[in-house]
Amino acid sequence: MASARPSRRSTGPVPDPHVIVLFGATGDLARRKLLPGLFHLAKAGLLPSRYRIVGSAPAQAALGDDAFRKHAREAVEEFGRAKPDGRAWQEFEETLRFGAADSDDPGPLLAAVRDAERDIGGSPRRLFHLAVPPAAFTSVVELLGATGLAEDARLIVEKPFGTDLPSARALNDTIHAVVDESRVFRIDHFLGKESVDNILALRFANGLFEPIWNRDHISHVQIDVPESIGIEGRAQFFEGTGTFRDMIVTHLFQLLGFVAMEPPTALNAKCLRDETEKVFETMEPLDPAQVVRGQYEGYRQEPGVAPHSDTETFVALRVRLENWRWAGVPFYLRSGKSLGQGRHVVTLGFREPALRMFPDDARRGAGAQGNRLVIDFADPGRIAARFLVKDPGPAMHLGTADMTFSYAESFNSLHALEGYERLILDAMLGDQSLFTRADGIERLWAASTPLLENPPPVQPYAQGSWGPDAVRRLIAPYHWYLPDR
Ligand code: BG6
Repeated sequence: MASARPSRRSTGPVPDPHVIVLFGATGDLARRKLLPGLFHLAKAGLLPSRYRIVGSAPAQAALGDDAFRKHAREAVEEFGRAKPDGRAWQEFEETLRFGAADSDDPGPLLAAVRDAERDIGGSPRRLFHLAVPPAAFTSVVELLGATGLAEDARLIVEKPFGTDLPSARALNDTIHAVVDESRVFRIDHFLGKESVDNILALRFANGLFEPIWNRDHISHVQIDVPESIGIEGRAQFFEGTGTFRDMIVTHLFQLLGFVAMEPPTALNAKCLRDETEKVFETMEPLDPAQVVRGQYEGYRQEPGVAPHSDTETFVALRVRLENWRWAGVPFYLRSGKSLGQGRHVVTLGFREPALRMFPDDARRGAGAQGNRLVIDFADPGRIAARFLVKDPGPAMHLGTADMTFSYAESFNSLHALEGYERLILDAMLGDQSLFTRADGIERLWAASTPLLENPPPVQPYAQGSWGPDAVRRLIAPYHWYLPDR
């Protein structure tokens, strides 16, 4: 197959020298994911030979270089897979700087970037990671434009990419006024998960699955991402966002794009993103009657939540794609907080055989179920074909069997990267394959408009359950495959 995509995975190119600027360096995302992730990349030898990381925040939250190093060490200590010690930490720590930035005073940031570039020498690339709340986004982008820092720079943008179609368009206009789309990396950490890439490998590197990956053989698809955690003290963010915007428009729709896409003509950013965009183009506008919004009992008592809040902490919905491959095949998507388990599972349910020659009572108990392909993309992930087999014995009884591929058992995942790590590295290499394009995100908001304008009321559900009862009716005549044990 012709491939224009950099063959990073086989040869492992290392990015050019870089100055990485982390806006929101003292925030939650930087602490939990970005700083530990950058250190892990450094320790794995995947960062450039010469680089500096400049933390930034408004003056009121500014730190000195030493305090930033301490902050980073504590973050890595608490959340990192690689512990902050030894020579590796010492070398990493030396690359850290801090430069405060406010719209009316970008001076300290400019000085820190200039120092970092002088330390590195030559003409390092600039990568700006905007881990800032939506309210701060425009002013940071404008600052990058006004100071000239954005010139030739790459921009990693965190979700939410707007809250509806007009705001997404406005956001894209703001970005494009300063940085060309070819240098914009809208990050969705789900797409950095190993098993998501593996959907491409499974579908397009084998002749086994693709011939049956369509409406002739598949009756329905489930993309199920329940979470057992609650809102974890993020009431301020969550109240204004809700599960639909937090999880569905971003993560689950992106997964849908990969599961449903046509074979790309090459494995490069343009072809891959053209194909996911086509999936989004064919998405029927969401029908509020096919959406269940839920709210876990006790949510309104969480600190910072309004006593009559209508924010959903759970969504299940039916999505239809109007194209030749998927016409008539419902896609069921579900995600929510405080549910029975935390899982990430895509299940393809296959059509029943044409002739039902095994009577229902041949299925031992109600439990014997087969006929599906399960892609579990929890890191490190696994794929299972679940089918019915004959239960040994004199009578023709059927039982459930699994043919399972497990990443952990099949490969040494010591060098595996977390979603964020993988994607930050891709951004440094300029590979946009796993990043959302402006037209794609606008199309998703357009399809979401009927739901946003006319959301059904939230229905309560017990913590630890699987959502309001209405989710069972939504999926009938099928049933949710989770919980599976
Ligand atoms: C984030 C959401 O993007 O993804 C969180 O803001 C959610 O609300 C998280 O919990 C889930 O990611 P993961 O990788 O832990 O499943």
